[in-house]
Amino acid sequence: MTMPDPMPEPVPAATPVAKNAISAKPGPFTVETVLAVKHFTDRLFSFRITRPASFRFRSGEFVMIGLPKEDGKPLLRAYSIASPFWDEALDFYSIKVADGPLTSRLQHIQPGDEVLLGRKPTGTLVLDALKPGKRLYMISTGTGIAPFASLIRDPETYEKFDEVILTHTCRQNAELTYGEELVAATRADELIGEMASEKLVHFTSVTRDEGPVKGRVTDMMNTGELYTRLGVPALDPATDRVMICGSEGLLKDVKQICLDHNFIEGSNAAPADFVIEKAFVATD
Ligand code: A2P
Repeated sequence: MTMPDPMPEPVPAATPVAKNAISAKPGPFTVETVLAVKHFTDRLFSFRITRPASFRFRSGEFVMIGLPKEDGKPLLRAYSIASPFWDEALDFYSIKVADGPLTSRLQHIQPGDEVLLGRKPTGTLVLDALKPGKRLYMISTGTGIAPFASLIRDPETYEKFDEVILTHTCRQNAELTYGEELVAATRADELIGEMASEKLVHFTSVTRDEGPVKGRVTDMMNTGELYTRLGVPALDPATDRVMICGSEGLLKDVKQICLDHNFIEGSNAAPADFVIEKAFVATD
């Protein structure tokens, strides 16, 4: 004889988090609504969320993004803001990791869903942390292009530099699509398009696919191939400034190249020749 199944415990209905209830509290985050989601590959997607009127940031900064957890504690990770400061909504570009605590769930968000947004954007990948110069390099791999998506749409970038070189290296060609669409849209943009068309150079390479340019940007900096291809002189602290965003390995290697060329690392408090920031969710 089998025992009848015990009566299931009544499951409490999920309490919807009232938007105003949280955002009205002076907590560390607000509840925002997903406006759009775009999947680029099985590893990459971008999403757009509402922006509170009071939310201010400097181009290149990051902020905490997350989802409420069933046990009530939110799960948050740092994300570079990929939209320009003048945009009415906020864009983010993310990796998908099957067993990543946040991105395994975040990759399934749909328009209308709610996500948590930190109140305090911060970071060192900002124009304020660099001394004036002639040429600005933005060196990125993978989702490390995200902060540059904001910076290449900031008029100040073009006011401060004669030439802006955005490099993006990915494993596969399909992973370059986000950057290609971004640069095309930037050049066609009403506000920034003219400046970007004149000053922005987009350099791409792949490492595990066949493509027009194959190889790591670091190798191309070391051999000089990068400068030859771009038609510019080799890296020089007298004229050049460098912003780096990508994996830990990229940061370490490009930083070393900068140090070898007598570049000084800058910060908000002491602007100098180069700045670095980790592409935060690369392993989540
Ligand atoms: P590679 O394929 O040779 O490892 P990931 O998807 O692992 O974040 O890598 C994104 C891109 O960054 C890949 O093209 C990868 O090249 C490249 N990469 C990884 N580590 C470094 C590094 N230390 N210096 C330069 N490029 C790197």
